[in-house]
Amino acid sequence: MTPPPDPYPRSAAAAASGRATAARAASSRGLADSREFRFEAANFTFIADLLRRLAGIHLAAHKREMVYARLARRLRTLGLPDFDAYCALINSDRGADEIGFLVNALTTNLTAFFREAHHFDHLANVALPEVRARVGAGRPQRLRLWSAGCSSGPEAYSIAMTVLANVTDLGRWDARILATDIDTAMVATARRGEYGIDALQTVPPAFRDRFARLLRDPTGQDRLSIAPEVRRLVTFKPLNLLEPWPMSGLFDAIFCRNVLIYFDRAGRSGIADRFAALLVPRGFLYLGHSESLFGLTDRFRQIGQTIYRRSD
Ligand SMILES: C[S@@+](CC[C@H](N)C(=O)[O-])C[C@H]1O[C@@H](n2cnc3c(N)ncnc32)[C@H](O)[C@@H]1O
Repeated sequence: MTPPPDPYPRSAAAAASGRATAARAASSRGLADSREFRFEAANFTFIADLLRRLAGIHLAAHKREMVYARLARRLRTLGLPDFDAYCALINSDRGADEIGFLVNALTTNLTAFFREAHHFDHLANVALPEVRARVGAGRPQRLRLWSAGCSSGPEAYSIAMTVLANVTDLGRWDARILATDIDTAMVATARRGEYGIDALQTVPPAFRDRFARLLRDPTGQDRLSIAPEVRRLVTFKPLNLLEPWPMSGLFDAIFCRNVLIYFDRAGRSGIADRFAALLVPRGFLYLGHSESLFGLTDRFRQIGQTIYRRSD
């Protein structure tokens, strides 16, 4: 990812005047800045613009405290005196490396196994039987699924468990699940496939017994590891949805849940059209509970609760 062209730091005079304005605004709100690192409005604007351009993520003004909280530790690690210095670092030769940390720190990674369970019911009862009905002449039955914005992996592993539980002759299929996220730390966690016991509470008990193994980590904590047959089905890769996608084969279904909500309207509409181009005709797209394609694209028609089908 390349840093944006904005000049930073601003000229000393502009910076000083920005600081004075911010200080006046803070004191007029009774918010004298007693925090460890000075964090001005201009710093927030710079970081928010950067995140919008690089990742499509829109940070509203009320996210300013969240940005401070998530980046303060990074400033401490880097030994920087304030956010002016941090923004200057991003615009320096070392900026490209730092941007990865910034994006990882500011993404929202909330996820859960079998979150929005009706999508997995639809996958099992509608999508997989449709794929099976498309008999590949003389070739193994092909299945391609994509978890786009997979966070730490529970969505992709839930898809894999659903496939394993519902496709009894999977050994004869050419089945693969791709799982991608912009956050490289999340991708690394997902690849490890180990979770605290609590994280698997939302996995149906029969699936937990079949697809998770108890293990004790080096600190003596009990953890659950995802079974090899599940992990083998999934490939985790870093991918920014705003950048070019390297995949060319078509997917039978795409899960992109609770990701588009952070994008602006143009970003959501552009990605929806790109999803359509990478789905088989009448392939499925699953969105998060508060997301909709209404007014964004004519490439999909809604067929259920946050379930869409490519319209052609
Ligand atoms: C709230 S989580 C959703 C996880 C999962 N899909 C679910 O619903 O449980 C949103 C994920 O989208 C990822 N994300 C945000 N912007 C992205 C982008 N531009 N490209 C790829 N992933 C992105 C974040 O890193 C985060 O892991």
